[in-house]
Parts: sequence; structure tokens; C-alpha cells
Amino acid sequence: MVVTGTAAAPTLGILDPADPSRGYDLRDCALHTPGIVAALPVLAALVSAADLTPYDVGSGQPVAQRGELKHVLVTESPDGELMVRLVLRSTAAEARVRKHLPWLRERLPAVRVVTINVQPEHRAVLEGEREVVLTEDDTLPMRMGGVTLHLRPRSFFQTNTAVAAALYREAAAWVRDLAPERVVDLYCGVGGFALHLAAPGRTVTGIEISADAVASAERSRDEADLPGTLGFAVGDATAPEHAALLAGADLVVVNPPRRGLGHDLARRLEGSGARHVLYSSCNPETLARDLADLASYRPVRGRLLDMFPQTPHAEVLVLLQRSE
Ligand SMILES: C[S@@+](CC[C@H](N)C(=O)[O-])C[C@H]1O[C@@H](n2cnc3c(N)ncnc32)[C@H](O)[C@@H]1O
Repeated sequence: MVVTGTAAAPTLGILDPADPSRGYDLRDCALHTPGIVAALPVLAALVSAADLTPYDVGSGQPVAQRGELKHVLVTESPDGELMVRLVLRSTAAEARVRKHLPWLRERLPAVRVVTINVQPEHRAVLEGEREVVLTEDDTLPMRMGGVTLHLRPRSFFQTNTAVAAALYREAAAWVRDLAPERVVDLYCGVGGFALHLAAPGRTVTGIEISADAVASAERSRDEADLPGTLGFAVGDATAPEHAALLAGADLVVVNPPRRGLGHDLARRLEGSGARHVLYSSCNPETLARDLADLASYRPVRGRLLDMFPQTPHAEVLVLLQRSE
């Protein structure tokens, strides 16, 4: 939620499309889960109680770009626990936020993780590099399927938790029929696909650029006592060094960011030994481009998942099979 207005009367939502210097309050937006709808008024009250002046994006005038609080990021776990992240311009207000933690916990007992994310730049980015964790817990357990994924503040997690659970379930069901022995999960994040694909006699290897996400995936694996062999490594999925891993795989799962795989990785996959590729995409345009590069594969199953309800965006899961 973008925070605008004043500390005494903040708006939590988006910038008003008609006048981007003003906020448009979306506290009771129908897209939120009931837990988040219940939390947002309390978080708005926290802004006032801790005197957190909303950042003024202004219109490029020198007078603008004042204030501290840019965004409030809230995640609710399937168990109803919350991670709350306050994106601030600096740590100037840290003491005031810390002082109000007991106040917040009393009014919002579901809060498990509270952090300050520091985003000093005047740029339209959601969060900065630095995270100050204010609670004993620094991860939010997300229980889905038979595993608990551990969400850390700066790790990616699928936007819609219920649909994410359906996505992993569907992937596991399709893969069950294929019974691959060696699976590679590129862009594995906190391990959603890899952990759901664990099976006796199967080796699953996840590659992910974020060391934090890999640490979460390893923790989930160690806690879950899953069958088969599961390994995770920090690395760039597009790097040529993974060619040997891809060459030996029966199935490669890919779930890239919006930019897709790109020509290099798609061509490397095309030249791999994998009989199947399972592609989960949040961007149909880059999916179509990558499928054109994967000319030896043909789609044999597909499913559209409404990951972003009431928007034109969707998640698409496609199973590709090598045709020759
Ligand atoms: C759409 S998310 C998918 C995460 C995971 N599959 C899931 O279900 O939560 C894309 C992931 O790719 C990671 N990533 C981005 N660029 C990467 C790269 N070049 N190599 C490996 N991972 C990358 C991001 O950190 C993010 O975790």
C-alpha cells in the first residue's frame, strides 16, 4: 500500500490516477483477504500514533520529496499470521516505530514479523536493499501442501497465496504422471515447486539468485523430511555453467520473472536432454517469445490461474514435451 496524506490522516492504497500527488485509499479493497482488511486500519492508526509522515512524491518540485513513510507491505500467511514491512526513506523514525511495537502487538496479535525497509531514493521502486528486522522472528511460515515455505522480508512469494497453493498442487499432479528421476527447478525462489515435486528416488535441484530465498528453501526441506534428494544452489539460472545440469535433467521447471527466460537460456533448454519443461509464467508475451525459441517442444497441458484477480494479469502453467 502506498502511503500518502498526513501522519494524522494517512491514505493507504495507490496514487490517485487522476492526480498522482494525492492518495487513493484502498483499505477495504475487495482484493484483500479478511485478515488484511482487519489489519490495515490498525496500521493506519500506527502511522498516526508513531507520527510517521507519509513521503510526498510531489510533482518534481523541490518542496516535495519530504516525509518518511513510502509504503506499507503486508503479507498474510495461510495461518492468518502477518508480516508487516514499513518502507521508509531512512531510519530516522526507527526509535518511534520500535516504541510502538507493543502498541501494535496489542491491537494486532496476528503480527509475527515487523521490519523497516530503507528506500532512500526518489524512485518508483517498492523497496530498498536494507531491511531492519524489529521482531524476534524474521520469517513468516507459509504452510501449503505438505510443506511450510519460509518467507523472508526481501524474498519473492507468489502474490496470491491460495492460487499459489493451487499452482504447486497442479504442477505436482502433472509431474506425478511423468515420474521424472532428475528434476531441475530454475528460478526456484523459496522452493515452492521443488518442495512440492519431492518424491522417492527423485533428485530435485533448485537454482535461485537470492541467497536469502535459497536459505529459506533449505530450511523448509530440512524441516519437512521429504522423500528423494533435494538440493538448492545460489546461482544465475541463465549462466552457461548450468548446461550440464540441464543436459542430465528429465524435467526442467522454469518460473522466471516477467522478462521470461530470454533467448540464451531458451536455446540452452532447447539443446538440453530434458523430455519435459514445465513453464510457469506471469507474462504471456515473454512466454510466447520463449515458446517460439523452444521449437522442439510442444505444449501438452496448460492452465490459466487467476493469480491477480480483477486485473488483466494471470499466471499460466504450461507443460511442454519434446516432440522428437
Ligand atoms: C517469479 S519468481 C518465482 C519463484 C518461485 N518459483 C516461487 O514459486 O515462489 C522468480 C524468481 O527468480 C529469481 N531470479 C531472478 N533472476 C534470476 C536469475 N537470473 N537466476 C536465478 N534466479 C533469478 C527471483 O529472485 C525470484 O525468486
